[in-house]
Amino acid sequence: MPEKPFLSDIRTLRERARRHIENGAITEGYKADRATVVKILNEALATEIVCVLRYKRHFYMASGINAESVAQEFLQHANEEQAHADAIAARIVQLGGAPDFSPEGLLTRSHAEYVEGDTLVDMIKEDLVAERIAIDSYREMVAYLGTDDPTTRRMLEGILAMEEEHADDLSGLLEELGS
Ligand SMILES: [Fe+2]
Ligand SMILES: [Fe+2]
Repeated sequence: MPEKPFLSDIRTLRERARRHIENGAITEGYKADRATVVKILNEALATEIVCVLRYKRHFYMASGINAESVAQEFLQHANEEQAHADAIAARIVQLGGAPDFSPEGLLTRSHAEYVEGDTLVDMIKEDLVAERIAIDSYREMVAYLGTDDPTTRRMLEGILAMEEEHADDLSGLLEELGS
């Protein structure tokens, strides 16, 4: 008598789970190209680190009549970009890769730029440009992953939503400052 497919499915699942146990969370059912995903995530990590550095610089350099509330916004964004960097690095490790924190080549790996800006308005504009670059690159990564790696995709979707909030905050600040 042939086995019911459901039972043999479970057996297959169990056998597959035992093979390559050293791969941890990465099972044979993982559909994405792992090396490419790690490479993309390392570019995103570089982008987030550059954004942390730029927001920190802007936080410390913000001065003028409207500086206090704008500086607080810069600081909040810096902390949120740091949280993004941490989440991305953790996911890279989960995928069996190594997060690239090397300062060498950081700006080349990053999608967004590091522009210091002379005035408060210049700083906000540069941050807005960087957020808009991040938004487009995260949207592309999400589309690339599709259903091949839902966990990474969900993480990137969460980050994307926050970058959109950042961009919205910054354009609000520009409006308040009449620029
Ligand atoms: Fe971010
Ligand atoms: Fe952001």
